[in-house]
Amino acid sequence: MCGIVAFKGNKEKTSEVIFEGLKLLEYRGYDSCGIGVIDNNEIKSFKWKGRVRKTEKRFIESKIKSPIAIGHTRWATHGEPNDVNSHPITSYNKKFAIVHNGIIENYRELKKILLEKGYEFYTETDTEVLVNFIELCVSNAKNIDKGISYALSKLEGAFGIVLIQRSNTDIMYAARKGSPLAFGRKGENFFIASDATPIIEYTKKIIYLDNGQLLKIDKTNFEVLDFELNKVPNKFQEVDVELQKVELGDFDSYMLKEIMEQPESLNQTMLGRIKNNKITLGGIHKYSKDLINTKRVIIIGCGTSWHAGLVAEYFLEKYLRVPVEVEYASEFRYRFPIINKGDIVFVISQSGETADTLEATRIAKKKGGILLGIVNTVGSSIARITDEGCYLHAGPEIGVASTKAFTSQLMLLLMIGAKTAYLKKNISIKKYEKMISELKRIPSKIEEVLELNNDIKKISKKIYKKNHALFLGRGNNFPVALEGALKLKEISYIHAEGYPAAEMKHGPIALIDSEMPVVAICTKSDEYDKMISNIREVGSRNAIVIGVIDKENEHVKDYLDFSILVPSTSKDFTPIINQIPLQLLAYHCAIFRGCDVDKPRNLAKSVTVE
Ligand code: F6R
Repeated sequence: MCGIVAFKGNKEKTSEVIFEGLKLLEYRGYDSCGIGVIDNNEIKSFKWKGRVRKTEKRFIESKIKSPIAIGHTRWATHGEPNDVNSHPITSYNKKFAIVHNGIIENYRELKKILLEKGYEFYTETDTEVLVNFIELCVSNAKNIDKGISYALSKLEGAFGIVLIQRSNTDIMYAARKGSPLAFGRKGENFFIASDATPIIEYTKKIIYLDNGQLLKIDKTNFEVLDFELNKVPNKFQEVDVELQKVELGDFDSYMLKEIMEQPESLNQTMLGRIKNNKITLGGIHKYSKDLINTKRVIIIGCGTSWHAGLVAEYFLEKYLRVPVEVEYASEFRYRFPIINKGDIVFVISQSGETADTLEATRIAKKKGGILLGIVNTVGSSIARITDEGCYLHAGPEIGVASTKAFTSQLMLLLMIGAKTAYLKKNISIKKYEKMISELKRIPSKIEEVLELNNDIKKISKKIYKKNHALFLGRGNNFPVALEGALKLKEISYIHAEGYPAAEMKHGPIALIDSEMPVVAICTKSDEYDKMISNIREVGSRNAIVIGVIDKENEHVKDYLDFSILVPSTSKDFTPIINQIPLQLLAYHCAIFRGCDVDKPRNLAKSVTVE
């Protein structure tokens, strides 16, 4: 899920376009970075393990000015993140250089062919196989277009690529199968990138390449072809995306900034959608009748977005009285899922680009589901292929660990659920209005939780040296436990598990001792008394027990080593509030352990490979 930026045009602009663009794409991967240009009839690459700024500095020092360049920020899939494996990768005979996003699944077969032809390999990447295979096919075909077309037709897997040729600074190719590529043109300046953000600084008119399309840019023009070289119609679309340069302000990290921003981001999610104590959701208005009449709801997502789907499952089943299934997108897409006409499929994704979620969406759409997107990134692939949807309006989320997007996902799903339950006449107007009033109070209640930051920091100090942690919750707070554990493990590298509290005695209780901190979510709920029993079970086995409790149940403190007292809300909405202290706990543990919370190891903000 690497990031690509390529440019052909005014050589004075090359460095700025590539490096400013790559900085915007670092969310897609950041283990290494590179730029490839043509200079004096030679392909020259500047690429290193590390962040964009390092490569930028060295490229500027080289004083090279080239009218054509391909840039890349990598998230390793084949071969460890190091200087040699970084992109661009040059072909064996130095005729081509490529940047590649995705995975070539049949690289072993292709490599065998190349080895037989005398090719040698210097990297551990599938990308090197790809560029060498293109070089071989072009040389066999004695025609660049035909050679590329033949090579593309033989590739299995997913890819977005941009290719340059040593002998011609006028020509550049880009091809897409799976991994998104956007293209823009301003006069004689041509831009290609993995998403539109690096381009919209220069033009808002974008062509998104479809799967199976090849873009060929020559001296002054371009054409979009299919992989058999037939011309395909193309149309620039105006993208409604503003480039939001996100400043850190007084914060040390985007993660902390985004945690602290949640009262505001939640207000943004509600903005214009609650009027006169009624919920209006223009984005899915067209399908409101289908939502009322549907016999089944399916929710698809990955990671944190999947957890948001799990919370929604509790709410939607309770109030809509239809079965709700929450699916990992990666499993859903490969298991011949059954979708009936009229099934509502919510697709949850912060980035709108997650490869598994995107493909699961395509499959569900083909099978006749009604696809509704719950997406943060405006104009993203998932936002574009779903039938309708509501944006989170949470603002750009830069920290790799999802925080504010999660709470906005919950807010939006609860709003959709409350409105539909009311339209279905499953809840009275009084109950509906009560729900809305409570949802409106959530941001200010979160402000109160954020004031506990210092207390949570002190609790984190007591546990950050531990190697494991267990998070327990019941009912709609079970997904909160899962999400709490995910946050802790991904940014602090402390192994953590989330469990439904009652399941603990079926196995995990064997792990409990004084080295195992247990975080128990124990705010008001129908299973409250049972949760207290579970807390006592772990407490009596010497675990350090940290409880998230609310004002109505302060007496639980007696059974806890540390308590985090959060404001009370309706039982249905506790997950939004209870998640906040767990985000802060993970953040402080990671900082105490010296981790880079914004860019945890091995992770990327947008997972655009399988
Ligand atoms: C964890 C996290 C990931 C994402 C997952 C899906 O903090 O951020 O688990 O939630 O990769 O990403 P989106 O929501 O962009 O589809």
